[in-house]
Amino acid sequence: MAEPGPAVRRRSRSASARKRSRAPTQPCAAASPLARKRLSPGGEEAPAESPCNNDSEDMFGGHDSFYEDDSLLAQIDDMEQANLQDKHMDIKAAGEFTLGNPQSGIDRRKQSDFSASENAAVHKVEKADSSQMTENDLVDSNEEPGDFILDDLPSSQLLYLDKMDELSSASRKSAVTARSNNCVNSCLGKISSPSFCHDAEPREGNTEVPTGSKCDSSKIESLKDHLKSAMTGNAKAQTPLVSKTKQLKDAVLSEEICVARKAIESSSDDIGPFYGLPSKVKDLLKQFRGIEALYEWQHDCLTLKSLQQRKNLIYSLPTSGGKTLVAEVLILQELLCRQKDVLMILPYVAIVQEKVWGLSSFGVELGFLVEEYAGSKGRFPPIKRRMKSSLYIATIEKGHALVNSLIEAGRIDHLGLVVVDELHMLGEGSRGATLEMTLAKILYTSKNTQIIGMSATLNNVGDLQKFLQADYYTNNFRPVELKEYIKIRDTIYEVDSKAENGFSFSRVLSFKYSSDLEKADPDHVIALVTEVIPKYSCLIFCPTKQNCENVASMVCKYLNKELSAPKEKEKQELIKNLRTIGNGSICPVLKHTIPFGIAYHHSGLTNDERKIIEEAYSAGVLCLLACTATLAAGVNLPARRVILRAPYVAREFLKKNQYKQMIGRAGRAGIDNAGESILIVQEKEKQLVRDLVNSPLENCYSSLLPELTKGVQSLLLSLVGLKIAVTLEEIYSFMCHTLLGVQQHLLPKEKSLLDIIKEGVENLIENGLLKGKMSGKDHNSQSILTITQLGKATYKGSIDLAYCSALYRELKKGLEGLVLESNLHLLYLTIPYDMIYSCNPDWMIYLRQFNQLSAAEQKVADIVGVPESFITKKASGQAIRKNVDSAIVNRLYLSFVLYTLLRETNVWSVSEKFNMSRGYVQSLLTSAASFASCVLRFCEELEEFWVYKALLTELTKQLTYCVKTELIPLMEVAGVLEMLLSEKAEALQEEVDELLRMPTDIPGAC
Ligand SMILES: Nc1ncnc2c1ncn2[C@@H]1O[C@H](COP(=O)(O)OP(=O)(O)OP(=O)(O)O)[C@@H](O)[C@H]1O
Ligand SMILES: [Mg+2]
Repeated sequence: MAEPGPAVRRRSRSASARKRSRAPTQPCAAASPLARKRLSPGGEEAPAESPCNNDSEDMFGGHDSFYEDDSLLAQIDDMEQANLQDKHMDIKAAGEFTLGNPQSGIDRRKQSDFSASENAAVHKVEKADSSQMTENDLVDSNEEPGDFILDDLPSSQLLYLDKMDELSSASRKSAVTARSNNCVNSCLGKISSPSFCHDAEPREGNTEVPTGSKCDSSKIESLKDHLKSAMTGNAKAQTPLVSKTKQLKDAVLSEEICVARKAIESSSDDIGPFYGLPSKVKDLLKQFRGIEALYEWQHDCLTLKSLQQRKNLIYSLPTSGGKTLVAEVLILQELLCRQKDVLMILPYVAIVQEKVWGLSSFGVELGFLVEEYAGSKGRFPPIKRRMKSSLYIATIEKGHALVNSLIEAGRIDHLGLVVVDELHMLGEGSRGATLEMTLAKILYTSKNTQIIGMSATLNNVGDLQKFLQADYYTNNFRPVELKEYIKIRDTIYEVDSKAENGFSFSRVLSFKYSSDLEKADPDHVIALVTEVIPKYSCLIFCPTKQNCENVASMVCKYLNKELSAPKEKEKQELIKNLRTIGNGSICPVLKHTIPFGIAYHHSGLTNDERKIIEEAYSAGVLCLLACTATLAAGVNLPARRVILRAPYVAREFLKKNQYKQMIGRAGRAGIDNAGESILIVQEKEKQLVRDLVNSPLENCYSSLLPELTKGVQSLLLSLVGLKIAVTLEEIYSFMCHTLLGVQQHLLPKEKSLLDIIKEGVENLIENGLLKGKMSGKDHNSQSILTITQLGKATYKGSIDLAYCSALYRELKKGLEGLVLESNLHLLYLTIPYDMIYSCNPDWMIYLRQFNQLSAAEQKVADIVGVPESFITKKASGQAIRKNVDSAIVNRLYLSFVLYTLLRETNVWSVSEKFNMSRGYVQSLLTSAASFASCVLRFCEELEEFWVYKALLTELTKQLTYCVKTELIPLMEVAGVLEMLLSEKAEALQEEVDELLRMPTDIPGAC
């Protein structure tokens, strides 16, 4: 049996912790930081679960004695009860403690009650427990009991607390060794499990030790040891700081929140110490962000009359202008003062994660919850909280799903505020359509939800204002000056709107080029780069993925070798880490470039590789990244100098918005005090570039119509499905309030908005997705439309309407003769339709793979419609007379890739075998896992496909964990199944979408 990938092992452990945490007999384990760790986002990072070791320096080694001593246990219970009663203090205390201040009021109480265990780390555990309980207590009583043990605490805050735990324990050097965290975690496991033994051997995937193990005999000794070590710890521990001031501050905070709430309710002009918020917010901004005061524009914006009147608002400022802070203040006002939930929509998974992390600390300090809706995270509908408001931070897709679920559950009114960053994305394809649907649904169904949109690149603001019924604020402020240059040959010109032709001469590059170097680097990229690195960071945006790798290699080849000296150890570490995540393989380009502090960054990298490279760049280990346009909007990686290798993204000439986003990475406030961008231009492109830099930003147009099946038709289906609008009249009224409705004057004369709606509804009826009369004598605009089972299946399965008929047909055909000798045929059915068009099979590989199949598997090709003769002829370059559907041919080819991947579980070897980038292979797997779960939900709504349920459940698991079937039972023991289908697989879609959205640098990416 092949060794499962590391992800598999990690997940199974993680899930085992979840399973245990739900067990009613182990209440403490449910709340333990250990279990929390298992749930932390990106569970991959969770360290292996190991029972407490018996190192003599480990002062918590004897914790099993707690269990034996009833009086001690009772004291723990009492203290937890006391904590529960003090709800207000609870989570705050956990936050304070984890922030390294072990002396909140609760702590002091505990210490006086329980001097024998007066040990900082043990207290930390108790406190974490109690904070969990308080969270549970906040859950609405309507929730199912099993729902609110551990999983309901937003993982973002768990992660934050965990991180702070680590930091604080690291700082208590003298009292606690680094290992103590593991032991503390184990300690909790032990409290909940009488059989825990601290000297038990660590056991892979199962940390529970049978009752009556040898730890029984060592209990007395263990207690003694524990007391001894605890006392040693106390003696060494620093005297805790007195927390009276802290308590006072807390009292002031709640008082201020009270006053602020009243002030906001009474719409008074006097809005409180810090924009209606407690002055603690100001302190936190200083503490966490280093922000001392608001910029003038931020103050002006926050004191706008329209905001005080709770009107919707759009605001627009240049990149790095500090837009986020204004939104954050508004968010805090909503959460703390109005006590409503808030949805913040951000464009990418990575950005969501970054923001969740950034705001979790505020959540802990100020007592609201931060919930992540991105990647594999998000619960639909979200848990109802009684005592605290939630901040949902979501990607566009997840935001839409969240809003749908709130509408379906009749809870949309709980959403007080929706903030949309990068509002211009409304105009960007299917994501734009999804964003438009989300906002239109909120506007239509919840009159009290305020909408705030921001962007650096807006032009036709009037349309957007009309759509969002919003006021508008704009300013040209940018804290760090960004100088824009272009380079033609060796001359650098500054972009200057006052100059006659838009550019003014700046300087001539002085860099001695040998003839060799001139040949390798005719555009003098090296000259531009070496002016800044290694002292400052630099990004080079390249038009294609291949170009990124070439540029990175070329720069290294001719760079002064001395550049490899700084941070040599860290760079070696980075190479080592990349090798580890590549199962021993490392990209030869990266291996060569990293010693120079240089790397490339594009969608051909696996997710892990990308993350690790981003971290190294942020930490200054890497000083130069050659990247594609994705990086401009994807992650927050600033640079002193941004170089645009050419005015192209793939083969398309740069758009103004793209240009602005890319150059906007240069000179970020707080990081750089200067920033510059240089666009490398060929003589022949001069005029085009002049137009580009001098032109206004592009207009933002509704994407609902261009994205027909993912846009207007999908919207119509969900309007009826969610019962938002069920008659033609209602639908028309809804559609008039979309951006498409606002821009309907741009529609061709022959097709009005009403025509589009009618056509769309008719189409949905024709395809059997909706039912109702659209024509005939008994039709009128008020006749009710209903959703059919197929419509419901399509809607529930999030199947693109363009493919739902094809999917239905193929599944139906499968019922007649599914080859089940292996999973190849099923895999074929779960290849996502939107991936097949970017695939260009290599016919030799196709034939080789086909020949390696068993006779039954080869039949699959025939059944789906790809005859063997077709593959043979293609491979030998012969002409083909018979027409074979290329979509099916590509789909089968991608099934071969997945089939191999499931057997080998090694992205690297598969990518070599099929001559595809590892990033692509990974995204195929993620995409197929997600689509398989969509197909499963599709089948669940349709009686005739009952047989697929079991098969697809199994396959989804295999795809999600990319392991052999034999391993699945093991993972089920660990509780993977429950997690898998409820949250994991379905949520992979947007990660995949994101990967697919990355610049189509290389046409035919595979
Ligand atoms: N008042 C302030 N004082 C100091 N720094 C600030 C202030 N406001 C914001 N910043 C910092 O400025 C930087 C840029 O802010 P932010 O990310 O909000 O810019 P932005 O306007 O959203 O830009 P973009 O359009 O590129 O996303 C951040 O590091 C932020 O912490
Ligand atoms: Mg921003």
